[in-house]
Amino acid sequence: MHYRIAVVPGDGIGPEVTEQAVRAMEAAGEKFGISFTFNRVLAGGAAIDARGECLPEDTVEACKASDAVLLGAVGGPKWDALPGEQRPEKALLGLRKSLGLYANLRPAAVFPELADASPLKREILNQGLDLLIVRELTGGIYFGERGHKETEMGYAAYDVEQYSTGEIERIARTAFQMAEKRRGRVTSVDKANVLDTSRLWRKTVTEIAEDYPDVELNHFYVDNASMQLVRDPSQFDVILTSNLFGDILSDEASQITGSIGMLPSASLGEGNFGMYEPVHGSAPDIAGTGKANPIAAILSAAMLLRFTLNQPGAADAIEDAVKQFLKDGFRTCDIAGGGDFCTTEEAGRRICERIREI
Ligand code: IPM
Ligand code: MN
Repeated sequence: MHYRIAVVPGDGIGPEVTEQAVRAMEAAGEKFGISFTFNRVLAGGAAIDARGECLPEDTVEACKASDAVLLGAVGGPKWDALPGEQRPEKALLGLRKSLGLYANLRPAAVFPELADASPLKREILNQGLDLLIVRELTGGIYFGERGHKETEMGYAAYDVEQYSTGEIERIARTAFQMAEKRRGRVTSVDKANVLDTSRLWRKTVTEIAEDYPDVELNHFYVDNASMQLVRDPSQFDVILTSNLFGDILSDEASQITGSIGMLPSASLGEGNFGMYEPVHGSAPDIAGTGKANPIAAILSAAMLLRFTLNQPGAADAIEDAVKQFLKDGFRTCDIAGGGDFCTTEEAGRRICERIREI
C-alpha cells in the first residue's frame, strides 16, 4: 500500500513535532508494508514569510490531492500584529473550511504513568478520565458574519453565531456514532438558557438521538460542563459541542490529563479524508529548544492511520510504543516535573525504536 500525505509543519514547534510524527509513520509503515510520500507544504506564518499570504492556493490543492493531511501548528508573536484576515490562524480556519472538515475529534484520557502530572486530586482521577470531545469545526461564531459599526457607546465590533439544522445534524451523528463504539453516552453542551443557536442545537440533537437508541443523551449548559469537567470527569464519554465551546472545553480537558503536549486530534468530513494535528499550539517560546513534546503529533499520526487509512495495526503499534516509552520511564520536558527529560528528537527516536520492537 502506498499513500500520499500532505504535511503542513507550520510555525513554532510545528516543524519539529511533525518531523517526529513522520518518522513514527515511516517506522510503522515499514512494519506493516505501507509506504508514504510526504509532501511538505506551507501555511500559517511560514507561508506569510515565504509567500506573503497565510494559505496559498497550491497548499489547499496539495492537501486535496493527498489521502490525508498532517499538520503541526500555526501562529506566533511575529505575526500577532497583522489584521485578522491575514493572521496565520486564518490558514487553519481556511483549511478546515475548504476541505469540508466539520467534525473535530479530540480524545482526552490519562496515561496511568502521568497521573501525577494532572492538577486533579488522585481520588477524582481514580474514578476514570477517558472522554472524546466532538467539536463542530466549520460553523458557528468562527465563520459567521463579522464587522464593525458605530454605536451609542462608541465604535463596536461583532461576530455572529449561526447554526443550521443541517450543520447540527451531521456533527450530532458523528458524536452518536462515536459513542456507539465507546461507552454509549453523549453529553451535548450548549447555552440554551440564553442563546437561540443553542436552543436549535438542543432540539436538533434530541431529534437525531432517536436514531441511536443504544446511546444515552444528556444536555449540559457550557458553564456547568466546564465545572463538571474538573469536579468529576468520569461522568463524560462523548462531549458534543459547537466550535467555540469545543475550543475552550478541549483545552480544559487536555490540561486535566496532565499535559496538552500529549493530545492528538482528527478533523473529518464526509468520506475518509482527514486532517490530523496536535491540540497544542505553536509554543514559540520553546521552539528549537528540544523541550517540545512530540507525542501529540505522533498520536495524531496514529489517528490518521486509524481513521483515514484504515490501518489499525499500524495505529496500534504507534500508540503502544508511546505507552511503552512512558512505562520505560522516559519523559519529555513538559511531563518531567523538573527532572531529567528527553529532547523532542530523542523522544521521537525512542518511540520509533519501540514501534519497530512491538
Ligand atoms: C485549536 C486552535 C485554533 C482554534 C486556532 C489556532 C484558530 O485554538 O485548534 O483549538 O481556535 O480552532
Ligand atoms: Mn484551541
